[in-house]
Amino acid sequence: MSTNIKELAKNYEPYITDMRREFHMHPETSLHEERTAARVAEELEKMGIPLVRIAGTGVLGTIHGKFPGKTIALRADMDALEITEKTDLPFKSKNDGVMHACGHDSHTAMLLGGAKILNEIKDQLHGTVKLIFQPAEEVAQGAKRMIAEGAMEGVDEIFGMHVMGDLPAGKIALHTGPLMAAVDMFKLTIKGKGGHGSMPNYGVDAVVAASAVVMNLQTIASRESSPMEPVVVSVGKFVSGTRFNILADEAVLEGTVRCFSHQVRRQIPEAMERIAKSTAASYRAEAELEYTLLTAPLINVESSVVRARKSVAAILSEDAAVDVVPTTGGEDFSEYMTNVPGVFAFVGICNEEKDTCYSIHHPKFTVDEDMLKIGAALHAQYAWDFLNES
Ligand code: NI
Repeated sequence: MSTNIKELAKNYEPYITDMRREFHMHPETSLHEERTAARVAEELEKMGIPLVRIAGTGVLGTIHGKFPGKTIALRADMDALEITEKTDLPFKSKNDGVMHACGHDSHTAMLLGGAKILNEIKDQLHGTVKLIFQPAEEVAQGAKRMIAEGAMEGVDEIFGMHVMGDLPAGKIALHTGPLMAAVDMFKLTIKGKGGHGSMPNYGVDAVVAASAVVMNLQTIASRESSPMEPVVVSVGKFVSGTRFNILADEAVLEGTVRCFSHQVRRQIPEAMERIAKSTAASYRAEAELEYTLLTAPLINVESSVVRARKSVAAILSEDAAVDVVPTTGGEDFSEYMTNVPGVFAFVGICNEEKDTCYSIHHPKFTVDEDMLKIGAALHAQYAWDFLNES
């Protein structure tokens, strides 16, 4: 029996749009997605889909197909950002200073739509679909917590999507290999010795030592790692000193590291510590490193990308699937993929006529809502293609 998921999705378009608008109106910041999670749970209950509330404000639903088979996880994130919305939409944020500027309202609505479709065709499904509605993507904690609380138990494959304002509506970007960078964070404390600015020889100037550390850290990208492996080391914050004629006794540097390979990622903390400590020592100062691993690199698996292209062809057309240049931005979807294969797709939502071509995190960010049913259909189609392939 053949199933036309594209046609089924059309029936749910008003539902998906309504859900997206409702979530958009009530954005909640990371780890505070109480209302959103409660509404997601309520909607799944109405569909008769069993669910558990895990990871604080996370929801995990399960659709059991009629026949035995593999298990696929479909994932959406639910959190919003501390941004004041500058759109004139009738469903503009009602929560001052908080906005769904990263499209997670759309992601949540698309997965609810996908759940409706899959639930309708579960009598033809081989295997199980796990619906992951995670909290706290923006602070890189949600995926880790969902995994720690069992969301990925028994899962063979994972699929996820992110809406993108620089990709034309109607296009789905699929890229094999590294797509998004590992995102890590560091804090370096450089300790010197205070004194009078007129007599630097009596103190240890933390400003000069920390400045040298900032410069030398750039050799991690240029001298430590392979020229074939991109690495970004950025110091975003440098705090030191109190007054023009006082030697600073301490400097605190904070920054981020981005790279696309697990191996390179493992090497960087050692290199950073060695360079910081030895550079500081050459100025009679000391350095201490705190290194925080946030998210792994997101690396799409080829067989999953090939399957996703077929799914896109079934929902849209052969030429709707396009390639995309990897980005040094990060996504905690990568955490799910450290143990199982899968693919993360970008959904084009840029439509000049509808004024939906803003980059994510922009105060005017919004989506071409025509793509919501496509996203819902793609969730369902990919799950179907994975579970029902012979
Ligand atoms: Ni996002």
